[in-house]
Amino acid sequence: MSKESSCRRVTISDIKRMKRKGEPIVMLTAYDYPSARLVEEAGISFMLVGDTLGMVVLGYETTIPVTMEEMLHHVKAVVRGTKKSLVVADMPFMSYQTGPEDALRNAGRFLQEGGAHAVKLEGGVNVAGTVRRLVEAGIPVMGHLGLTPQSLHQFGGFKVQGKTPQAAIRLMNDAEALADAGAFSVVLELAPAALAELISKRLRIPTIGIGAGAGCDGQVQVYHDLLGLFDRFVPKHARRYADLGQAIRDAVAAYAEDVRERRFPTDENSFCMDETALAELRTSDDVPEALRAGKAPASSEAALGRTASSKKPSTEKPSTPAHA
Ligand code: KIV
Repeated sequence: MSKESSCRRVTISDIKRMKRKGEPIVMLTAYDYPSARLVEEAGISFMLVGDTLGMVVLGYETTIPVTMEEMLHHVKAVVRGTKKSLVVADMPFMSYQTGPEDALRNAGRFLQEGGAHAVKLEGGVNVAGTVRRLVEAGIPVMGHLGLTPQSLHQFGGFKVQGKTPQAAIRLMNDAEALADAGAFSVVLELAPAALAELISKRLRIPTIGIGAGAGCDGQVQVYHDLLGLFDRFVPKHARRYADLGQAIRDAVAAYAEDVRERRFPTDENSFCMDETALAELRTSDDVPEALRAGKAPASSEAALGRTASSKKPSTEKPSTPAHA
């Protein structure tokens, strides 16, 4: 994001200004507190809590089953993980298609309960009235055109949209309708690069592309695609910058191996008991005779701190809190 916005929360005016100045706009999805923190710390202050969370986080086949309650749960976590980002909440299937009043109520929940700063919804001319209603109520709206995943069954799959002259003109008109209705930007998903560039040049609001080429004013990607955390399929439009999936598998396997081989935990990860208290415990009548006589099973011995150890466990308080 530009320098002047680095100390405060990014606003939709900043996003629109970037288009005017010709600065590339970077957006990434985030779905929870840690991902939001990491994204912001990496220098991205424009985040989408996409309904893709249904696929990459919740394990659904498509985005269609995602509910308002699921979205809200994740939007709240993302907002808690940010200090200066503009957080856009994706309106799930059937949270706005049923009419402007439902849309207003649900979009309002994202801002009021979720703490989001804007909402996104799919569609063009068909949702322009709804977009206008939200904007009039003070809710910033991002549009979404091209392949709109909530209409996946209508399209018959993840197909590039706007390939014929008629379809391209429809897409252009949809983009104009969203801008006229007051949307502050529009996502273009799976559209031919040349068409997306044309739309971007014509439109006064920024286009944010995903699989729509380099001619868009900005780009958005799915966090899990970028980081190799989702391997059910890798979209052509994504570039994998890390293989965290493999890194996690390796780390988890190493932990399991350490436990099985009794290499973890060590004294470094354990907590010590005061020597006097321990001595008292060892002579206490409440401790079974067998244990005091040292005839107890190994695990009970360990519980009394009698394991052979070259290094004494720390009596310090843990520097990081225990999780449970
Ligand atoms: O839900 C989502 O993550 C999206 C992006 C793909 C733009 O809509």
